[in-house]
Amino acid sequence: MRFNALLLAIFVLSLWLGLTAHHAEKIRRLATQSDERGLVSADIEDSDLFFQDALRAKGPDRDNSQKIEALLKQMTLEEKVGQMTQLTMEMIVTGKDQNVTVDPAKLDKAIGRYGVGSILNVFDQALTPDKWYDIVGRIQDAAKKTRLRIPVIYGIDSIHGANYIRGATLFPQEIGMAATWNPELMKRGSEIAAMETRAAGIPWSFSPVLDIGRQPLWPRFYETFGEDPYLAKVMGVAFVRGLEGSDPSSPDHVAASLKHYMGYSLSLNGRDRTPALIPENYLREYVLPTFDAAVKAGARTVMVNSADINGTPGHINHHILKDILRDELGFNGFVVSDWEDIKKLVTVWRVAANEKEATRMAVMAGIDMSMVPLDYSFADHLIALAKEGAVPQARIDEAVRRILRVKFELGLFDNAMPNPALKSKIGLPESRQASLQAARESMTLLKNTGDLLPLSKERKILVTGPTADSLISLNNGWSYVWQGSEPSLYPDRPTIRRAIEAKAGAANVTYIPGTKITRREGSTSNNNPTNIEAEVDIEAAVRAAAADVVVLCLGEGSYCETPGNIPDLMLGEPQRKLARAIQATGKPVVLVLVEGRPRTLDGIADNAAAVLMAYNPGNEGGQAVADVLFGDFNPCGKLPFTYPRLPNALLTYDRKAFENEGFDNAGISPQFEFGDGLSYTTFNYKDLRLGAKTITRNDPLSVSVTVTNSGRRAGKEVVQLYVSDLVASLSPPRKRLKRFAKIYLAPGQSKTLTFRLGADDLSFIGADNKPVVEPGEFEVSIGGLKERFELK
Ligand code: NOJ
Repeated sequence: MRFNALLLAIFVLSLWLGLTAHHAEKIRRLATQSDERGLVSADIEDSDLFFQDALRAKGPDRDNSQKIEALLKQMTLEEKVGQMTQLTMEMIVTGKDQNVTVDPAKLDKAIGRYGVGSILNVFDQALTPDKWYDIVGRIQDAAKKTRLRIPVIYGIDSIHGANYIRGATLFPQEIGMAATWNPELMKRGSEIAAMETRAAGIPWSFSPVLDIGRQPLWPRFYETFGEDPYLAKVMGVAFVRGLEGSDPSSPDHVAASLKHYMGYSLSLNGRDRTPALIPENYLREYVLPTFDAAVKAGARTVMVNSADINGTPGHINHHILKDILRDELGFNGFVVSDWEDIKKLVTVWRVAANEKEATRMAVMAGIDMSMVPLDYSFADHLIALAKEGAVPQARIDEAVRRILRVKFELGLFDNAMPNPALKSKIGLPESRQASLQAARESMTLLKNTGDLLPLSKERKILVTGPTADSLISLNNGWSYVWQGSEPSLYPDRPTIRRAIEAKAGAANVTYIPGTKITRREGSTSNNNPTNIEAEVDIEAAVRAAAADVVVLCLGEGSYCETPGNIPDLMLGEPQRKLARAIQATGKPVVLVLVEGRPRTLDGIADNAAAVLMAYNPGNEGGQAVADVLFGDFNPCGKLPFTYPRLPNALLTYDRKAFENEGFDNAGISPQFEFGDGLSYTTFNYKDLRLGAKTITRNDPLSVSVTVTNSGRRAGKEVVQLYVSDLVASLSPPRKRLKRFAKIYLAPGQSKTLTFRLGADDLSFIGADNKPVVEPGEFEVSIGGLKERFELK
């Protein structure tokens, strides 16, 4: 008997070792794989393998409970409420721009008198690392002089890189990172963002955005990973792992903040911070999965949805903040409000008659820290509420315990002082290279009639359009300033125009802007729309179209949050006029779209020979666009959303079949579908095989397919596996993405991929808001191949 047990143990161990070795081999292959230009980049052969590994890599939780309880015992009510208070930098500094300095009297009030636990952001614009050392150093010095010496947790919005730190590396915005379908690259990007943020002395980033991008009007669409919860959850987990690492106290990592929990992006009218109506089963199917996964990946903090769902503002939604986040997901970090959102319960949402009542409601619903952030009202009200017994001491202790835990985990109690020796980690050449690789892999070639692309370098080229010569458009919001709108702050990087000139020779390139996008004065307020389009010299552009080919760069300026609201998804009339005039010349047009959301194109894409979607690719985006246009990089991005043809024809790929069937000629069908993206080579799919034709819910189903590079160039392909539930108790979507791979294939090379699907992949959230797996027929599709199986 004992001998048998031993044999069994040996068998299990060797199986495990075998699997681990197999896995290690896979990872080794990833690390050595390179594209045709010799850049190291990873192959992801199975998104699920990446995902499961990422969850496991979170590292052990440290138990600091004794220290935390000892501190809590000593804290006064005022000190506890101070920890729950977050102010913006403006509250402790004087001066503007780079002359901003800590004001000792203001600092003393914030830290000395109120014991404020957290400070955020910049006043006005990105600061040099030295400025950050000075400011953060003084804040932590002040904290050290308080009775209990509790360090302050500083947080900034490192949305697509450490944007508020001068010289930091900016990556494509999340929507572009999603288009890479490469979670390894996402993780690398957020590792760099974390390293650079921490190098400036800041241990907390308000990222990733895990809202789902299914409402393209929403001005924060570019901050999302697009419309699909599976792709977004894999990329979101990669983002969190990159930020936090296995030990967030290390000098290369920071705490993440999952935002905006939850439902913020699904506003009915598409405007920022406006109401959403989301049935709970839909919420659980489409909105919750990214947050659920990122909590499992170990994220330390969560920021709350500023808007309302079904009439309940996010900041008082006890069901979402307590029942789901704490009891179901088991989140044990702290919850921070968004900007001024407790006040807005009175001024905007009108669910509370005064701020004191709003404070009570929000804290009781589960807000642990209030981003007040411009006065001390929160602290004053909460102290009064606690004294009256309207907020129990236990609730305050719970919030403070969570905040202290994160401060311990970040190592702030050991040393919260910035370390100037880390300055050399900001803006390293290899970080820039990673950003370039991400920008390249995000480039999504949506049309290429007659192989117009790649362009030969000898041709005469007209470059025109308002986004051709703009780092602002390439980066969009959260770039040096909140709105990304300050040209003087951008580093010396080639725009699309300059990168094309560098490749084709300035003598072969004519640049005429045609139209421009400027910002309305005072547009950091709620003036809408923020970006104003105007004609510049359309006629001159038409004359210059005597060139061989026209690169027409259209899209958007920069915006974020409420200033980015637009009343119409259609591209502005000046750009459409430019396009019509250029296209009337009959010259072949390469349309390059630089935009944070899919602006509808009024026939421009239909009349263009080639279309390249660039999203907001960041500072290396000009280079990346030119690399693809001239064939120095073989494009491999895939659209992470459904591109509408007309503003009122919004669909997602996982629509119900009947939503557009029969309307194909009425402009209802999308301009481009989710997952679309061409290459300069061709990929052939064959041998889609299912491990069984009939399974039970306990059998995993293996799905394999062979992909061959059937063209003449090396390239990367995104292999997408979709499942369709053919009959279900709630009318089923056409298909849902369940797995993907991103692989590199040399010409003629083939790879057989094997995915494993489990019952979870066949389930949906039923009418009772619970996951259900229903027996019946399913279809698996990959690269145009389809196979059916039955679940018994
Ligand atoms: C408001 C935004 O909604 C949020 O995303 C951001 O993190 C905070 N402001 C802090 O800047």
